[in-house]
Amino acid sequence: MALGGETSRHGMWSSRWMFVLAAAGSAVGLGNIWRFPFIAGDNGGGAFILVYLLCIFLIGIPIMMAEVLMGREVRKSPINTLRKLVTVSKASPAWILIGWMGVAAGFFILSFYAVIAGWAMDYVLVTAQGTFVGVTGEGAAAVFNSFLESPLQLMLWQTLFMVLTVWIVARGVSGGLELAIRVLMPLLFILLIVMLGYAVTTGGFGQAAEFMFRFEWERMGVEGVLAAMGQAFFTLSLGMGAIMAYGAYVPNNASVPGTVTIIALLDTVVAIAAGLVIFSIVFANGLEPGQGPGLMFITLPLAFGQMPLGTLFGTVFFVLVSFAAVTSAISLLEPALAFLVEEYNAVRSRVAISLGVITWILGLGTVFSFNIWADVHLVGERTFFDLLDFLTNNIMLPLGGLLMGLFVGWVLPRKLLADQLEMPSLWLNIWLFLVRFVAPLGVLTVFVYTLYRAAMG
Ligand code: PHE
Repeated sequence: MALGGETSRHGMWSSRWMFVLAAAGSAVGLGNIWRFPFIAGDNGGGAFILVYLLCIFLIGIPIMMAEVLMGREVRKSPINTLRKLVTVSKASPAWILIGWMGVAAGFFILSFYAVIAGWAMDYVLVTAQGTFVGVTGEGAAAVFNSFLESPLQLMLWQTLFMVLTVWIVARGVSGGLELAIRVLMPLLFILLIVMLGYAVTTGGFGQAAEFMFRFEWERMGVEGVLAAMGQAFFTLSLGMGAIMAYGAYVPNNASVPGTVTIIALLDTVVAIAAGLVIFSIVFANGLEPGQGPGLMFITLPLAFGQMPLGTLFGTVFFVLVSFAAVTSAISLLEPALAFLVEEYNAVRSRVAISLGVITWILGLGTVFSFNIWADVHLVGERTFFDLLDFLTNNIMLPLGGLLMGLFVGWVLPRKLLADQLEMPSLWLNIWLFLVRFVAPLGVLTVFVYTLYRAAMG
């Protein structure tokens, strides 16, 4: 029997499919549609994407299994899950720091996530008003840049997004969230397929595919390797405990390896599709792939402005992106939220509001990074937003994943792992090899390599 019993005090997913949808809801978000294309664009495409895919399959999937199994074993928040596992395996309490670092990473990420999701929400209205009908590349860029210049507007949408997120989180695991995910995720898939259909007609599709799948190593710098690994963790929601927290609500009859594989594949398909759509539009319109965070907000409106029924499709599309962001945002809050509820026997909704307020304040740093603090540079050329993004995605998440791999692979008893995963022993051994060696060494190698190359100039 599992250490934490059969059910979690926070609630349970109503079925294993609900877990797949919820975890896919966490995984599929701005990371796929907004971040993946622009990071890939900034890092030269092909080779970056190859490294990214390798990280997903060799590190991401095994670590995701590790997170789910730890969560399901103890059925508590990540910090308390680690506490319990450390106690039963008589390991050093230092491992619990993984949980604390995850809580911090969750705050940091959500603080900027809310701002970017706010852009998508604003674009629902802007697109619906027909702003982009017949727009040019420069026109679309101008709309976006003038929006960024207004801190008040950004704050308005950031606030709305945080209120929405807190409201859903406060209602609990099954009260509403399950329903929302069930309807919205399939719709998002359908719209992406529509967009892919459009992308094929733009004349830029071949070039887009080439940009994404031709592995020219010289196009990617050293930082690209680190960025690819960071993106793999970010897009699968790994390394900070979101998936561990969700794992605590997984019914016992679900197969961990099976569900995790489906989740990771869904996430990857969405990212690749989004990339193909966006780069087709980029090349068809003679734009630059390396445009930074504005990429999606300039290319997609451009396409919607040209395609038949573009205003309708565009509006619906940004609605779905906003919802995809909400279903990810709630999972960023869940580890801290569940922990505080457990520790202080606190009311879920009150904790949710307090955490929301703290995150909102931190998010102002990101809001200002695009206007009044645009010239404030921290650690190199980075704005506050760039620094937060770099620190969380390229350092904290991979480091969290590295430590989780070591903890699960070397500290937890094999019997516990075998009971949770229920895989034939050959597969169990392959998985163990991946979490014990490949994942930690992979992350470590990338860290050391990037540091070394950075030091060498
Ligand atoms: N995976 C989410 C996305 O791709 C972001 C996220 C990261 C969510 C970490 C939870 C934890 O948008």
